[in-house]
Amino acid sequence: MGLPADFTRLTGERVTLDPLRPDDIDPLFAMQSDPAVTRYLLYGPRTREQVEEVLARDAPRTRLAAIDDYLQPAIRDEHGAFVGTMYLTMHSIDDRTAEIGWILLPAAQGKGYAAEAARMLLDYCFGPLDLHRVYAELDPRNTASVALCERLGMRHEGHFVEDMFLKGEWTDTARYAILEREWRREHPAPIA
Ligand SMILES: CC(C)(COP(=O)(O)OP(=O)(O)OC[C@H]1O[C@@H](n2cnc3c(N)ncnc32)[C@H](O)[C@@H]1OP(=O)(O)O)[C@@H](O)C(=O)NCCC(=O)NCCS
Repeated sequence: MGLPADFTRLTGERVTLDPLRPDDIDPLFAMQSDPAVTRYLLYGPRTREQVEEVLARDAPRTRLAAIDDYLQPAIRDEHGAFVGTMYLTMHSIDDRTAEIGWILLPAAQGKGYAAEAARMLLDYCFGPLDLHRVYAELDPRNTASVALCERLGMRHEGHFVEDMFLKGEWTDTARYAILEREWRREHPAPIA
């Protein structure tokens, strides 16, 4: 398999990843307008109008075929309720590399939902998408996100000092990554 790929749904033990829908607007707005949630993101807090634009733009994006193509699926809990979003952006086609990220509603944090969703997405990256490398970039002060990268077995590859002027201050970036063969050591591919 590999690219191009059309994302539909990933189902795990507790969480499901599927495309955003128009009726996600209320929890998506609650999440993206919350200063605590967006503290270490590149954007936000967003207005309702901005979130409506994001939803209209991102909900139909399900195809990965070229550089910068991305998915932003909803994370839904065992009851089908929206608890957050994941994202996956194709960074390079030749190098089969993508960037991954995660955001949860505050009430859904501390339950392992992001870890389960990220594991499902990494399995999708290294299985059906046939990627070689997946990385995450984050503000090193974002300790919950750092802990998640470590929980996933991602390697700390770099710390860029004051590489961004963001939200009124110079900000560092940490980069974490994992290769397909490293992922497969702990998560063998299912036998066909
Ligand atoms: C980053 C973020 C997604 C991490 O969320 P999280 O819920 O801490 O991450 P996980 O899904 O890995 O959950 C782990 C926590 O759930 C707990 N947990 C509870 N029940 C669990 C279960 N059944 N399985 C696994 N973990 C469980 C773990 O003990 C751990 O808690 P701890 O950190 O107090 O030890 C979240 O903090 C967030 O949305 N932040 C705001 C947005 C953001 O900054 N995104 C990242 C941008 S780079």
